[in-house]
Amino acid sequence: MYRFFMANNLTFSIIKPDAVSRHITGKINSMIENAGFSIIAQKLIRITKEQAQKFYDVHQDKPFYEDLCNYISSGAVVVQVLKKENAVADYRKLMGATNPANAEEGTIRKKYAISIDQNSVHGSDAEDTAEREISFFFSKTELVGC
Ligand code: CMP
Repeated sequence: MYRFFMANNLTFSIIKPDAVSRHITGKINSMIENAGFSIIAQKLIRITKEQAQKFYDVHQDKPFYEDLCNYISSGAVVVQVLKKENAVADYRKLMGATNPANAEEGTIRKKYAISIDQNSVHGSDAEDTAEREISFFFSKTELVGC
């Protein structure tokens, strides 16, 4: 893991397989940009099961861990780095509740998520997590936007 200057301006996002397969990454990116975020890095990738297990290792004791790792590695995803003041908290607000049944109007998950598992997007839950998650998928030289 490498460290960033002013990490509170950055967060990490995944547009999950349910959204990529429904061809709504553009719509989700519009919501992200309309909310004032800059997408400073982005790539379409397939996460391996091994990467998923490592990425989500904080959940390894949870009953949903196995399904979560299988799901996130089941199809293409878009990983991205978002920049904005208070990026972590503001992106969590924009995503809405983890379970779309509890998500507020105007949030990404209210609009697009199918279920708690197929909930369209992931966002870092804290600034130190954002640093870990960004460096998990991106090298420093890939953060090219401004
Ligand atoms: P995400 O933000 O990617 O972080 C972990 C994921 O686990 C979460 O979104 C959900 O898609 C999934 N998940 C499944 N069941 C639960 C649960 N009971 N509580 C929290 N997350 C869950």
